[in-house]
Amino acid sequence: MPTCTAPLSSAVNSAPLSADADPHAVLSAAVTAPVAGGGEIGYAALDYAASAPVLRRVWDEVAGYAPLYGSVHRGAGHLSRLSTELFERSRATVAGFLGCRTDDQLWFTRSTTDSLNLLAAALPAGTRVFVFETEHHAALLPWARHGHAVTCLPTPETPESAVRAVESALAGAPEGPKLLCVTGASNVTGELWPVAELTAVAHRLGARIVLDAAQLVPHRPVSVADLDVDWVAFSGHKLYAPFGAGVLAGRADWLAAAPPYLAGGGATRVVSRDPHEGLRVEWADGEARHEAGSPNVIGAFAIAAACRALTEGPGYDGLVARERELLGTLRAGLGRLPAVTELSLFGGRSERVAVVSFTVDGWDSAELARALSDRYGIGVRSGMFCAQPLVRRLLRSEGPADDCGGALQAVRASFGAGTPDEHVQRLLDALADLTGRPRG
Ligand code: ALA
Repeated sequence: MPTCTAPLSSAVNSAPLSADADPHAVLSAAVTAPVAGGGEIGYAALDYAASAPVLRRVWDEVAGYAPLYGSVHRGAGHLSRLSTELFERSRATVAGFLGCRTDDQLWFTRSTTDSLNLLAAALPAGTRVFVFETEHHAALLPWARHGHAVTCLPTPETPESAVRAVESALAGAPEGPKLLCVTGASNVTGELWPVAELTAVAHRLGARIVLDAAQLVPHRPVSVADLDVDWVAFSGHKLYAPFGAGVLAGRADWLAAAPPYLAGGGATRVVSRDPHEGLRVEWADGEARHEAGSPNVIGAFAIAAACRALTEGPGYDGLVARERELLGTLRAGLGRLPAVTELSLFGGRSERVAVVSFTVDGWDSAELARALSDRYGIGVRSGMFCAQPLVRRLLRSEGPADDCGGALQAVRASFGAGTPDEHVQRLLDALADLTGRPRG
């Protein structure tokens, strides 16, 4: 028998193609945007929390693989076998990046939203789900549509009170399966949640926990094993890899016992026609059970490439140090603008990632975001950021979203790898121009 000496996927060059070897350089660095009055200006991408730019390193690796693309888990041809191997290696790379336990599984999905919907569909019947009202809609909404009882916990004033609220809610809950869903970093205020403490309380009181890490993994290393969370979910498009894939990783048992998320090819072992019962299906085990259809191999490969890039060279230590410096500049500058109020859950001194939302007296948030784009080439997001209960709470507005004009919404600036000082300074200068000079 001939033996295979090297993995097929070694044919894919994972070294950077471009001369720019900085693993944290982003493609959007070279983009210009038109500005009012004519001319172009370098685009200041400050909306990473919605979708981060593509890392050049990710783009280069995808370009290296694209000519070799083939179907996954389907064909016997060389490219199909290569892509299958690469897909599974990407799974292993991402599991390593997340510090998964050896018996965890990792499902490639479309996004964080898809990952949390997959978990919601796989919970045992009668699971009680606990979630703070401050969560992103993707973490608030999937559970009830599968018939699970949802306890929506009120906005906590401190991380410690969040832990106490979970403790008291779980202590009073009846027997049966329970799940706590919590964010790692708020997509509105950037503030970090006490995940390790919440996990300890949840486990002590018989609940499992899923971490929505969509805003956390782009800014901080996450270890499933160290945090002891049961599952973690995130999106490729916030991790510099916007090729349509996301991740759910963690405990296998509930997902192994659940019906497949989608019914179709790839999720089956045997399908036969029974004269009495109609179609008989034996569903696949393992990750395949919930990955029906042709997998998004480029999306998975791109996420793995981002994981490699973010952990190489200066790695997260470099990213975190740089981000802290820029975040300090931004928040200090916003604090000197008399018309600006930064939104915060836990107070100004709480630890946070590079996501900052604010309101500006006398300005409709959508009009302000538009002016920042049209006049200064700055891209931010305005609105309620798919977290309406939280934004309404922070703005002390209890009306439904339709009643909230732009004045009752906020503007959000967010950044990360590849953001230069100039983008943050330009935002501060633009806000001073538009809203009034800074104090002192
Ligand atoms: N969840 C994304 C955001 O916060 C879309 O903007």
